[in-house]
Amino acid sequence: MDSLKDADNEIYDAIVKETGRQEKGVEMIASENFVSKAVLQAVGSTLTNKYSEGYAGKRYYGGNEYIDVCETLAISRAKKLFGAEHVNVQPHAGSQANMEAFFAVTELKDKILAMDLSNGGHLTHGSPVNFSGKFYTFFHYGVDPKTGRIDMDDVRKAAKTIKPRILLSGFSAYPRTLDFKGFQEIAEEVGAYHMSDIAHIAGLCAAGVHENPVKFADIVTTTTHKTLRGPRGAMIMCKESDRINPNDKKNLAQKIDSAVFPGMQGGPLDHVIAGKAVAFKEALEPDFRNYAEQIVRNAKVLADVLLDHGVELVSGGTDNHLILMDVDKSFGIRGKKAVQVLDEVHIYTNKNMVPNDRGTPFDPCGLRIGTPAITTRGMKESEMKQIGEWYVRTLKSPDDKAVKDKIKSGLVLGLRSDLLISAGYNSDRWYFGISYINMALISQAPIEERSIGYETGMIRINLVRRFQTKKPIRILNPEL
Ligand SMILES: Cc1ncc(COP(=O)(O)O)c(C=O)c1O
Repeated sequence: MDSLKDADNEIYDAIVKETGRQEKGVEMIASENFVSKAVLQAVGSTLTNKYSEGYAGKRYYGGNEYIDVCETLAISRAKKLFGAEHVNVQPHAGSQANMEAFFAVTELKDKILAMDLSNGGHLTHGSPVNFSGKFYTFFHYGVDPKTGRIDMDDVRKAAKTIKPRILLSGFSAYPRTLDFKGFQEIAEEVGAYHMSDIAHIAGLCAAGVHENPVKFADIVTTTTHKTLRGPRGAMIMCKESDRINPNDKKNLAQKIDSAVFPGMQGGPLDHVIAGKAVAFKEALEPDFRNYAEQIVRNAKVLADVLLDHGVELVSGGTDNHLILMDVDKSFGIRGKKAVQVLDEVHIYTNKNMVPNDRGTPFDPCGLRIGTPAITTRGMKESEMKQIGEWYVRTLKSPDDKAVKDKIKSGLVLGLRSDLLISAGYNSDRWYFGISYINMALISQAPIEERSIGYETGMIRINLVRRFQTKKPIRILNPEL
Protein backbone atom coordinates (compact mmCIF):
# COMPACT_ATOMS: atom_id res chain seq x y z
CA MET A 1 0.00 0.00 0.00
CA ASP A 2 2.93 2.32 -0.74
CA SER A 3 0.88 4.72 -2.90
CA LEU A 4 -1.67 5.20 -0.17
CA LYS A 5 1.07 5.69 2.39
CA ASP A 6 2.61 8.43 0.27
CA ALA A 7 -0.66 10.11 -0.64
CA ASP A 8 -2.48 10.02 2.67
CA ASN A 9 -0.56 8.88 5.67
CA GLU A 10 -3.45 9.41 8.08
CA ILE A 11 -5.77 7.03 6.24
CA TYR A 12 -2.90 4.59 5.65
CA ASP A 13 -2.14 4.65 9.35
CA ALA A 14 -5.78 4.04 10.30
CA ILE A 15 -6.00 1.08 7.89
CA VAL A 16 -2.79 -0.46 9.19
CA LYS A 17 -4.02 -0.09 12.77
CA GLU A 18 -7.45 -1.52 11.93
CA THR A 19 -5.80 -4.50 10.22
CA GLY A 20 -3.72 -5.01 13.35
CA ARG A 21 -6.82 -4.84 15.52
CA GLN A 22 -8.51 -7.47 13.37
CA GLU A 23 -5.44 -9.70 13.48
CA LYS A 24 -4.93 -9.51 17.22
CA GLY A 25 -8.53 -9.74 18.36
CA VAL A 26 -11.10 -12.50 18.58
CA GLU A 27 -13.76 -11.30 16.15
CA MET A 28 -17.08 -12.60 17.36
CA ILE A 29 -19.56 -10.16 15.86
CA ALA A 30 -21.98 -12.59 14.24
CA SER A 31 -22.37 -10.46 11.11
CA GLU A 32 -18.67 -10.03 10.35
CA ASN A 33 -16.16 -12.19 8.55
CA PHE A 34 -12.74 -12.07 6.87
CA VAL A 35 -12.71 -12.11 3.08
CA SER A 36 -10.00 -13.81 1.09
CA LYS A 37 -7.14 -11.89 -0.45
CA ALA A 38 -8.73 -12.56 -3.86
CA VAL A 39 -11.98 -10.85 -2.81
CA LEU A 40 -10.01 -7.92 -1.36
CA GLN A 41 -8.13 -7.50 -4.61
CA ALA A 42 -11.33 -7.46 -6.68
CA VAL A 43 -12.89 -4.88 -4.36
CA GLY A 44 -9.76 -2.74 -4.42
CA SER A 45 -9.56 -2.82 -8.22
CA THR A 46 -9.98 -0.34 -11.08
CA LEU A 47 -13.61 -1.41 -11.40
CA THR A 48 -14.38 1.29 -8.86
CA ASN A 49 -13.79 3.82 -11.67
CA LYS A 50 -16.66 2.64 -13.83
CA TYR A 51 -20.26 3.77 -14.26
CA SER A 52 -22.67 1.12 -15.51
CA GLU A 53 -26.30 2.01 -14.83
CA GLY A 54 -28.55 -0.66 -16.26
CA TYR A 55 -27.92 -4.37 -16.68
CA ALA A 56 -25.51 -6.48 -18.76
CA GLY A 57 -26.05 -5.76 -22.46
CA LYS A 58 -28.42 -2.86 -21.63
CA ARG A 59 -26.28 -0.13 -20.06
CA TYR A 60 -26.72 3.62 -20.14
CA TYR A 61 -22.94 4.14 -20.49
CA GLY A 62 -20.34 2.90 -22.95
CA GLY A 63 -17.28 0.79 -22.23
CA ASN A 64 -19.02 -1.83 -20.13
CA GLU A 65 -17.85 -5.02 -21.84
CA TYR A 66 -15.71 -6.18 -18.90
CA ILE A 67 -18.19 -4.99 -16.30
CA ASP A 68 -20.77 -7.15 -18.07
CA VAL A 69 -18.43 -10.14 -17.78
CA CYS A 70 -18.11 -9.63 -14.00
CA GLU A 71 -21.81 -9.07 -13.36
CA THR A 72 -22.86 -12.00 -15.54
CA LEU A 73 -20.40 -14.28 -13.74
CA ALA A 74 -21.63 -13.10 -10.34
CA ILE A 75 -25.22 -13.86 -11.38
CA SER A 76 -24.53 -17.29 -12.84
CA ARG A 77 -22.45 -18.34 -9.83
CA ALA A 78 -25.10 -17.12 -7.38
CA LYS A 79 -27.76 -19.03 -9.33
CA LYS A 80 -25.69 -22.19 -9.11
CA LEU A 81 -24.86 -21.67 -5.44
CA PHE A 82 -28.45 -21.23 -4.29
CA GLY A 83 -30.40 -22.88 -7.13
CA ALA A 84 -32.08 -19.54 -7.89
CA GLU A 85 -34.20 -18.81 -10.95
CA HIS A 86 -33.31 -15.12 -11.02
CA VAL A 87 -30.61 -13.08 -9.25
CA ASN A 88 -29.89 -9.37 -9.02
CA VAL A 89 -26.39 -8.73 -7.61
CA GLN A 90 -26.56 -4.93 -7.65
CA PRO A 91 -28.02 -4.03 -4.23
CA HIS A 92 -25.46 -1.99 -2.33
CA ALA A 93 -26.38 -3.42 1.07
CA GLY A 94 -28.88 -5.62 2.88
CA SER A 95 -31.09 -2.68 3.84
CA GLN A 96 -31.35 -1.52 0.23
CA ALA A 97 -32.08 -5.06 -0.93
CA ASN A 98 -34.99 -5.22 1.50
CA MET A 99 -36.28 -1.82 0.43
CA GLU A 100 -36.07 -2.84 -3.23
CA ALA A 101 -37.89 -6.12 -2.57
CA PHE A 102 -40.67 -4.24 -0.72
CA PHE A 103 -40.87 -1.67 -3.54
CA ALA A 104 -41.15 -4.44 -6.14
CA VAL A 105 -44.34 -5.99 -4.78
CA THR A 106 -46.08 -3.50 -2.48
CA GLU A 107 -47.76 -0.13 -2.41
CA LEU A 108 -46.87 2.28 0.40
CA LYS A 109 -48.72 1.50 3.66
CA ASP A 110 -49.30 -2.15 2.65
CA LYS A 111 -49.31 -4.67 5.50
CA ILE A 112 -46.17 -6.71 6.18
CA LEU A 113 -45.89 -9.41 8.85
CA ALA A 114 -42.37 -9.91 10.23
CA MET A 115 -40.45 -10.93 13.34
CA ASP A 116 -40.47 -8.51 16.25
CA LEU A 117 -37.20 -6.59 16.50
CA SER A 118 -36.55 -7.49 20.12
CA ASN A 119 -37.09 -11.16 19.20
CA GLY A 120 -34.44 -11.16 16.48
CA GLY A 121 -35.85 -9.13 13.57
CA HIS A 122 -33.86 -6.46 11.72
CA LEU A 123 -34.38 -2.67 11.61
CA THR A 124 -35.68 -3.03 8.05
CA HIS A 125 -38.36 -5.42 9.31
CA GLY A 126 -40.54 -2.60 10.55
CA SER A 127 -38.66 -0.52 13.09
CA PRO A 128 -40.47 2.81 13.58
CA VAL A 129 -37.17 4.67 13.15
CA ASN A 130 -36.45 2.95 9.82
CA PHE A 131 -37.94 3.58 6.35
CA SER A 132 -39.75 0.23 6.67
CA GLY A 133 -41.72 1.28 9.75
CA LYS A 134 -42.49 4.69 8.24
CA PHE A 135 -43.56 3.53 4.76
CA TYR A 136 -45.43 0.33 5.61
CA THR A 137 -47.93 -1.01 8.10
CA PHE A 138 -45.94 -3.61 9.99
CA PHE A 139 -47.27 -6.34 12.25
CA HIS A 140 -44.97 -8.61 14.22
CA TYR A 141 -44.83 -12.16 15.50
CA GLY A 142 -42.34 -13.14 18.18
CA VAL A 143 -40.87 -16.20 19.84
CA ASP A 144 -42.57 -18.36 22.43
CA PRO A 145 -41.44 -16.83 25.76
CA LYS A 146 -40.92 -20.30 27.26
CA THR A 147 -38.89 -21.89 24.47
CA GLY A 148 -37.39 -18.82 22.81
CA ARG A 149 -38.43 -20.39 19.48
CA ILE A 150 -40.85 -19.35 16.77
CA ASP A 151 -44.21 -21.06 17.09
CA MET A 152 -45.43 -21.61 13.53
CA ASP A 153 -49.03 -21.92 14.75
CA ASP A 154 -48.77 -18.37 16.14
CA VAL A 155 -47.36 -17.15 12.83
CA ARG A 156 -50.24 -18.83 10.97
CA LYS A 157 -52.82 -17.32 13.35
CA ALA A 158 -51.34 -13.83 12.92
CA ALA A 159 -51.11 -14.20 9.14
CA LYS A 160 -54.75 -15.31 8.90
CA THR A 161 -55.93 -12.35 10.96
CA ILE A 162 -53.71 -9.71 9.35
CA LYS A 163 -53.68 -10.96 5.76
CA PRO A 164 -50.37 -9.25 4.96
CA ARG A 165 -49.08 -8.47 1.51
CA ILE A 166 -45.70 -9.92 2.53
CA LEU A 167 -44.89 -12.58 5.11
CA LEU A 168 -41.25 -12.06 6.05
CA SER A 169 -38.98 -14.81 7.40
CA GLY A 170 -35.28 -14.57 8.27
CA PHE A 171 -33.63 -12.62 11.06
CA SER A 172 -30.62 -10.94 12.64
CA ALA A 173 -30.55 -12.60 16.01
CA TYR A 174 -32.39 -15.92 16.03
CA PRO A 175 -30.15 -18.83 17.01
CA ARG A 176 -32.38 -21.64 15.75
CA THR A 177 -33.17 -23.16 12.36
CA LEU A 178 -36.05 -21.73 10.37
CA ASP A 179 -38.94 -23.65 8.85
CA PHE A 180 -38.93 -21.94 5.44
CA LYS A 181 -41.33 -24.49 3.97
CA GLY A 182 -43.74 -23.74 6.81
CA PHE A 183 -43.51 -19.99 6.11
CA GLN A 184 -44.16 -20.63 2.43
CA GLU A 185 -47.26 -22.72 3.20
CA ILE A 186 -48.65 -19.98 5.43
CA ALA A 187 -47.94 -17.31 2.80
CA GLU A 188 -49.77 -19.40 0.20
CA GLU A 189 -52.71 -19.97 2.57
CA VAL A 190 -53.22 -16.22 3.09
CA GLY A 191 -52.31 -15.02 -0.42
CA ALA A 192 -49.11 -13.25 0.67
CA TYR A 193 -45.70 -13.09 -0.93
CA HIS A 194 -43.13 -15.00 1.09
CA MET A 195 -39.96 -12.95 1.36
CA SER A 196 -37.03 -14.42 3.23
CA ASP A 197 -34.12 -12.30 4.47
CA ILE A 198 -31.19 -14.68 4.94
CA ALA A 199 -28.61 -11.92 5.46
CA HIS A 200 -27.09 -13.87 8.36
CA ILE A 201 -27.37 -17.49 7.39
CA ALA A 202 -26.78 -17.25 3.61
CA GLY A 203 -23.44 -19.09 3.82
CA LEU A 204 -25.03 -21.90 5.82
CA CYS A 205 -27.89 -22.13 3.30
CA ALA A 206 -25.50 -22.15 0.33
CA ALA A 207 -23.47 -24.94 1.91
CA GLY A 208 -26.53 -27.03 2.72
CA VAL A 209 -25.91 -26.74 6.45
CA HIS A 210 -29.21 -24.86 6.91
CA GLU A 211 -32.29 -25.33 4.74
CA ASN A 212 -32.13 -23.06 1.70
CA PRO A 213 -35.32 -20.96 1.31
CA VAL A 214 -34.65 -20.19 -2.35
CA LYS A 215 -36.56 -23.25 -3.47
CA PHE A 216 -39.66 -22.11 -1.56
CA ALA A 217 -39.81 -18.35 -1.16
CA ASP A 218 -40.98 -15.88 -3.80
CA ILE A 219 -38.16 -13.47 -2.92
CA VAL A 220 -34.95 -14.03 -0.96
CA THR A 221 -32.72 -11.14 0.05
CA THR A 222 -29.28 -11.54 1.54
CA THR A 223 -26.15 -9.67 2.41
CA THR A 224 -22.97 -11.11 0.94
CA HIS A 225 -20.56 -10.29 3.76
CA LYS A 226 -21.67 -12.40 6.71
CA THR A 227 -21.55 -16.21 6.68
CA LEU A 228 -21.29 -16.01 2.87
CA ARG A 229 -17.83 -14.45 3.35
CA GLY A 230 -17.93 -12.01 0.44
CA PRO A 231 -17.52 -8.25 0.24
CA ARG A 232 -19.95 -5.87 1.96
CA GLY A 233 -23.05 -5.85 -0.21
CA ALA A 234 -26.22 -7.74 -0.99
CA MET A 235 -28.30 -9.48 -3.62
CA ILE A 236 -31.87 -10.45 -4.32
CA MET A 237 -32.97 -13.86 -5.58
CA CYS A 238 -36.48 -14.57 -6.77
CA LYS A 239 -38.76 -16.73 -8.84
CA GLU A 240 -39.28 -15.68 -12.45
CA SER A 241 -43.05 -15.69 -12.27
CA ASP A 242 -45.26 -13.70 -9.95
CA ARG A 243 -47.38 -16.17 -7.99
CA ILE A 244 -49.69 -13.50 -6.59
CA ASN A 245 -50.18 -11.39 -9.72
CA PRO A 246 -49.42 -13.69 -12.67
CA ASN A 247 -51.22 -11.43 -15.17
CA ASP A 248 -49.20 -8.28 -14.51
CA LYS A 249 -47.22 -6.89 -17.43
CA LYS A 250 -43.95 -7.57 -15.59
CA ASN A 251 -43.07 -10.91 -14.03
CA LEU A 252 -41.51 -11.03 -10.55
CA ALA A 253 -37.92 -11.02 -11.84
CA GLN A 254 -38.61 -7.90 -13.92
CA LYS A 255 -40.31 -6.20 -10.97
CA ILE A 256 -37.26 -6.86 -8.78
CA ASP A 257 -34.83 -5.62 -11.43
CA SER A 258 -36.70 -2.38 -11.99
CA ALA A 259 -37.11 -1.80 -8.24
CA VAL A 260 -33.30 -2.02 -7.92
CA PHE A 261 -32.56 0.10 -10.98
CA PRO A 262 -33.94 2.63 -11.73
CA GLY A 263 -36.29 2.30 -8.73
CA MET A 264 -33.90 2.64 -5.83
CA GLN A 265 -30.28 2.79 -6.98
CA GLY A 266 -28.21 4.49 -9.63
CA GLY A 267 -24.93 2.97 -10.75
CA PRO A 268 -23.94 -0.37 -9.27
CA LEU A 269 -20.70 -0.82 -7.31
CA ASP A 270 -18.89 -2.78 -10.01
CA HIS A 271 -15.79 -3.48 -7.91
CA VAL A 272 -18.00 -4.97 -5.20
CA ILE A 273 -19.94 -7.04 -7.73
CA ALA A 274 -16.62 -8.48 -8.92
CA GLY A 275 -15.81 -9.28 -5.28
CA LYS A 276 -19.19 -11.01 -4.95
CA ALA A 277 -18.41 -13.12 -8.03
CA VAL A 278 -15.09 -14.21 -6.50
CA ALA A 279 -16.72 -15.03 -3.16
CA PHE A 280 -19.44 -17.10 -4.88
CA LYS A 281 -16.74 -19.05 -6.72
CA GLU A 282 -15.07 -19.74 -3.39
CA ALA A 283 -18.38 -20.78 -1.85
CA LEU A 284 -18.94 -23.26 -4.70
CA GLU A 285 -15.75 -25.10 -3.70
CA PRO A 286 -16.30 -28.25 -1.61
CA ASP A 287 -14.22 -26.77 1.20
CA PHE A 288 -16.85 -24.12 1.83
CA ARG A 289 -19.18 -26.81 3.13
CA ASN A 290 -16.53 -27.88 5.64
CA TYR A 291 -16.19 -24.26 6.68
CA ALA A 292 -19.96 -23.86 7.18
CA GLU A 293 -20.19 -27.12 9.14
CA GLN A 294 -17.32 -25.99 11.37
CA ILE A 295 -19.07 -22.65 12.04
CA VAL A 296 -22.07 -24.53 13.43
CA ARG A 297 -19.97 -27.06 15.37
CA ASN A 298 -17.98 -24.21 16.91
CA ALA A 299 -21.13 -22.34 17.94
CA LYS A 300 -22.54 -25.49 19.56
CA VAL A 301 -19.36 -26.18 21.56
CA LEU A 302 -19.19 -22.57 22.69
CA ALA A 303 -22.86 -22.62 23.71
CA ASP A 304 -22.27 -25.82 25.70
CA VAL A 305 -19.33 -24.28 27.58
CA LEU A 306 -21.46 -21.24 28.44
CA LEU A 307 -24.40 -23.42 29.50
CA ASP A 308 -22.08 -25.51 31.70
CA HIS A 309 -21.25 -22.29 33.51
CA GLY A 310 -24.94 -21.52 34.01
CA VAL A 311 -25.11 -18.76 31.40
CA GLU A 312 -28.65 -18.10 30.21
CA LEU A 313 -28.92 -18.45 26.43
CA VAL A 314 -31.99 -17.44 24.46
CA SER A 315 -33.70 -20.69 23.38
CA GLY A 316 -31.18 -22.64 25.46
CA GLY A 317 -28.54 -22.99 22.74
CA THR A 318 -27.95 -22.67 19.03
CA ASP A 319 -28.45 -24.46 15.71
CA ASN A 320 -26.61 -21.93 13.60
CA HIS A 321 -23.69 -19.50 13.79
CA LEU A 322 -24.89 -17.27 16.61
CA ILE A 323 -25.55 -17.33 20.33
CA LEU A 324 -27.64 -14.85 22.25
CA MET A 325 -26.74 -14.52 25.93
CA ASP A 326 -28.89 -12.83 28.52
CA VAL A 327 -25.93 -11.17 30.26
CA ASP A 328 -28.20 -9.29 32.63
CA LYS A 329 -29.63 -12.51 34.10
CA SER A 330 -26.34 -14.41 33.88
CA PHE A 331 -23.82 -11.84 35.14
CA GLY A 332 -25.85 -8.90 36.41
CA ILE A 333 -24.50 -6.53 33.75
CA ARG A 334 -26.20 -5.09 30.68
CA GLY A 335 -25.16 -5.56 27.05
CA LYS A 336 -23.42 -2.20 26.76
CA LYS A 337 -21.05 -2.91 29.63
CA ALA A 338 -20.50 -6.50 28.44
CA VAL A 339 -19.36 -5.24 25.01
CA GLN A 340 -17.07 -2.69 26.61
CA VAL A 341 -15.30 -5.12 28.98
CA LEU A 342 -14.92 -7.73 26.25
CA ASP A 343 -13.48 -5.03 23.98
CA GLU A 344 -10.86 -4.48 26.70
CA VAL A 345 -9.69 -8.09 26.33
CA HIS A 346 -9.91 -7.85 22.52
CA ILE A 347 -12.96 -10.05 22.13
CA TYR A 348 -15.38 -8.20 19.85
CA THR A 349 -19.13 -8.69 20.22
CA ASN A 350 -22.34 -6.66 20.02
CA LYS A 351 -25.12 -5.85 22.46
CA ASN A 352 -28.53 -7.11 21.42
CA MET A 353 -32.12 -7.12 22.62
CA VAL A 354 -33.39 -10.43 24.00
CA PRO A 355 -37.06 -11.44 23.93
CA ASN A 356 -38.98 -9.39 26.53
CA ASP A 357 -35.90 -7.29 27.16
CA ARG A 358 -35.90 -5.31 30.43
CA GLY A 359 -33.50 -2.71 29.03
CA THR A 360 -33.47 -0.34 26.07
CA PRO A 361 -32.19 -0.82 22.49
CA PHE A 362 -29.11 1.21 23.46
CA ASP A 363 -28.51 -0.76 26.63
CA PRO A 364 -30.26 -4.10 26.28
CA CYS A 365 -29.94 -7.22 28.42
CA GLY A 366 -28.40 -9.32 25.69
CA LEU A 367 -25.07 -9.98 24.02
CA ARG A 368 -24.90 -11.55 20.55
CA ILE A 369 -21.84 -13.55 19.58
CA GLY A 370 -21.05 -15.59 16.49
CA THR A 371 -18.47 -17.96 15.07
CA PRO A 372 -18.16 -17.18 11.30
CA ALA A 373 -15.06 -14.96 11.53
CA ILE A 374 -13.08 -17.02 14.03
CA THR A 375 -13.88 -20.15 12.04
CA THR A 376 -12.38 -18.48 8.98
CA ARG A 377 -9.22 -18.01 11.02
CA GLY A 378 -9.00 -21.75 11.54
CA MET A 379 -10.37 -22.07 15.04
CA LYS A 380 -12.03 -25.28 16.07
CA GLU A 381 -13.67 -26.92 19.07
CA SER A 382 -10.65 -26.67 21.40
CA GLU A 383 -10.40 -22.91 20.88
CA MET A 384 -14.14 -22.56 21.52
CA LYS A 385 -13.66 -24.17 24.93
CA GLN A 386 -10.94 -21.66 25.73
CA ILE A 387 -12.94 -18.70 24.46
CA GLY A 388 -16.00 -19.81 26.43
CA GLU A 389 -13.92 -19.80 29.61
CA TRP A 390 -12.65 -16.31 28.78
CA TYR A 391 -16.20 -15.01 28.32
CA VAL A 392 -17.25 -16.33 31.70
CA ARG A 393 -14.18 -15.06 33.53
CA THR A 394 -14.41 -11.60 31.97
CA LEU A 395 -18.15 -11.12 32.43
CA LYS A 396 -18.10 -12.49 35.98
CA SER A 397 -15.46 -9.93 37.00
CA PRO A 398 -16.06 -7.01 34.65
CA ASP A 399 -14.17 -4.55 36.84
CA ASP A 400 -11.25 -6.78 37.79
CA LYS A 401 -8.21 -5.46 35.94
CA ALA A 402 -6.03 -8.42 36.93
CA VAL A 403 -8.47 -10.88 35.35
CA LYS A 404 -8.70 -8.83 32.17
CA ASP A 405 -4.93 -8.36 31.92
CA LYS A 406 -4.40 -12.08 32.29
CA ILE A 407 -6.87 -12.91 29.55
CA LYS A 408 -5.48 -10.22 27.28
CA SER A 409 -1.93 -11.49 27.70
CA GLY A 410 -3.11 -15.03 27.11
CA LEU A 411 -4.67 -14.16 23.84
CA VAL A 412 -2.24 -14.48 21.00
CA LEU A 413 -3.33 -15.03 17.46
CA GLY A 414 -0.79 -16.25 15.03
CA LEU A 415 0.79 -19.02 13.07
CA ARG A 416 1.04 -21.49 15.88
CA SER A 417 0.39 -25.10 16.60
CA ASP A 418 0.21 -27.10 19.80
CA LEU A 419 1.71 -30.40 20.76
CA LEU A 420 -0.61 -32.14 23.16
CA ILE A 421 0.85 -34.77 25.45
CA SER A 422 -1.85 -36.49 27.40
CA ALA A 423 -1.74 -39.25 29.93
CA GLY A 424 -4.66 -40.74 31.74
CA TYR A 425 -6.48 -43.66 33.23
CA ASN A 426 -9.42 -45.05 31.33
CA SER A 427 -11.57 -47.54 33.36
CA ASP A 428 -9.00 -50.30 33.66
CA ARG A 429 -5.90 -49.13 31.86
CA TRP A 430 -3.43 -46.32 31.71
CA TYR A 431 -2.79 -44.66 28.43
CA PHE A 432 -0.35 -42.18 27.00
CA GLY A 433 -0.76 -40.15 23.85
CA ILE A 434 0.91 -37.47 21.82
CA SER A 435 -0.94 -35.45 19.22
CA TYR A 436 -0.64 -32.22 17.37
CA ILE A 437 -3.53 -29.84 17.43
CA ASN A 438 -3.49 -27.11 14.87
CA MET A 439 -4.52 -23.91 16.48
CA ALA A 440 -4.85 -20.39 15.30
CA LEU A 441 -5.37 -19.14 18.79
CA ILE A 442 -3.36 -20.06 21.82
CA SER A 443 -3.06 -18.90 25.32
CA GLN A 444 0.30 -18.10 26.84
CA ALA A 445 -1.02 -17.73 30.34
CA PRO A 446 0.74 -20.30 32.51
CA ILE A 447 -2.53 -21.57 33.88
CA GLU A 448 -3.47 -22.78 30.39
CA GLU A 449 -0.33 -24.88 30.11
CA ARG A 450 -1.72 -27.72 32.15
CA SER A 451 -5.21 -29.05 32.44
CA ILE A 452 -6.92 -31.97 34.00
CA GLY A 453 -9.89 -33.15 31.99
CA TYR A 454 -12.62 -35.64 32.57
CA GLU A 455 -14.00 -37.17 29.42
CA THR A 456 -16.41 -40.09 29.05
CA GLY A 457 -15.21 -41.91 32.12
CA MET A 458 -11.58 -41.08 31.54
CA ILE A 459 -9.35 -38.87 33.65
CA ARG A 460 -6.81 -37.09 31.55
CA ILE A 461 -3.84 -34.89 32.21
CA ASN A 462 -2.83 -32.68 29.32
CA LEU A 463 0.52 -31.02 28.94
CA VAL A 464 0.66 -28.59 26.11
CA ARG A 465 3.91 -27.55 24.51
CA ARG A 466 3.62 -24.65 22.13
CA PHE A 467 5.77 -23.89 19.13
CA GLN A 468 5.73 -22.08 15.84
CA THR A 469 4.47 -23.80 12.72
CA LYS A 470 4.13 -22.83 9.12
CA LYS A 471 0.51 -23.89 8.87
CA PRO A 472 -1.14 -20.91 7.24
CA ILE A 473 -4.21 -19.27 8.59
CA ARG A 474 -6.00 -16.59 6.67
CA ILE A 475 -3.65 -13.66 6.32
CA LEU A 476 -5.34 -10.37 6.93
CA ASN A 477 -2.69 -8.04 5.73
CA PRO A 478 -2.45 -8.43 1.97
CA GLU A 479 -0.07 -6.25 0.04
CA LEU A 480 -2.24 -5.45 -2.93
C1 LIG B 1 -31.46 -9.90 8.71
C2 LIG B 1 -30.75 -8.67 8.18
N1 LIG B 1 -31.26 -8.02 7.13
C3 LIG B 1 -30.68 -6.92 6.63
C4 LIG B 1 -29.52 -6.43 7.16
C5 LIG B 1 -28.95 -5.15 6.62
O1 LIG B 1 -27.74 -5.27 6.01
P1 LIG B 1 -26.82 -3.97 5.76
O2 LIG B 1 -26.18 -3.66 7.05
O3 LIG B 1 -25.88 -4.44 4.70
O4 LIG B 1 -27.72 -2.86 5.29
C6 LIG B 1 -28.93 -7.09 8.23
C7 LIG B 1 -27.66 -6.57 8.81
O5 LIG B 1 -27.28 -6.77 9.88
C8 LIG B 1 -29.57 -8.24 8.77
O6 LIG B 1 -29.07 -8.89 9.82
